[in-house]
Amino acid sequence: MFSLFRKGKKPAEPAPPEPARPAATASAPPATARASTPSTPGGRMIKVSMTVNGKPVSADIDARTLLVQFLRENLRLTGTHVGCDTSQCGACVVHVDGRAIKSCTTLAASCDGAKVLSIEGLAQGGKLHPMQEAFREHHGLQCGFCTPGMIMAAVDIVQRRGSGLSEEVVRADLEGNICRCTGYHNIVAAVLAGAAGMAAKPHAAE
Ligand code: FES
Ligand code: FES
Repeated sequence: MFSLFRKGKKPAEPAPPEPARPAATASAPPATARASTPSTPGGRMIKVSMTVNGKPVSADIDARTLLVQFLRENLRLTGTHVGCDTSQCGACVVHVDGRAIKSCTTLAASCDGAKVLSIEGLAQGGKLHPMQEAFREHHGLQCGFCTPGMIMAAVDIVQRRGSGLSEEVVRADLEGNICRCTGYHNIVAAVLAGAAGMAAKPHAAE
């Protein structure tokens, strides 16, 4: 009979399930928001405290924890995506102290005391940020995987350069963000519209 396995080779044993990682709550005060990330061999545990989307958080983590891991695994803020892990695709862009950075190559420890803004913190009072609204209006997405990083990068572009952007500038400044679906045409249109929207309605999150 046909077999998927070579003669004499046994199928691999299924890996045991990973223990659940306790989550820090961004809404709780620092004293109770502490979460502990299990240290891997050779890891050193440190305490980090920062403000994420306007809320103070504090946790004991492995010193090698990346900011994107801290957001996704400790705080359960999974809107920030990981597309490459090597600082190329921009799916992980968040703002630290008002500047866009790639959280897949930023240590959480280096953000101790910082103000972090992720895509979850952009909408305010149940209203989308003008850049989010522009992406929705202009169909600046298909699968949506790149979209959180694209929007955070776009908001940063407007903050750095002002709202009078040209298509060339938007395309050049979005160089670090890769979309596998849209062909960029609608994304660029959305960023230009979002820039105009930000000028018309300065937003509380920024
Ligand atoms: Fe950070 Fe791709 S996941 S740049
Ligand atoms: Fe799918 Fe950009 S919308 S990767």
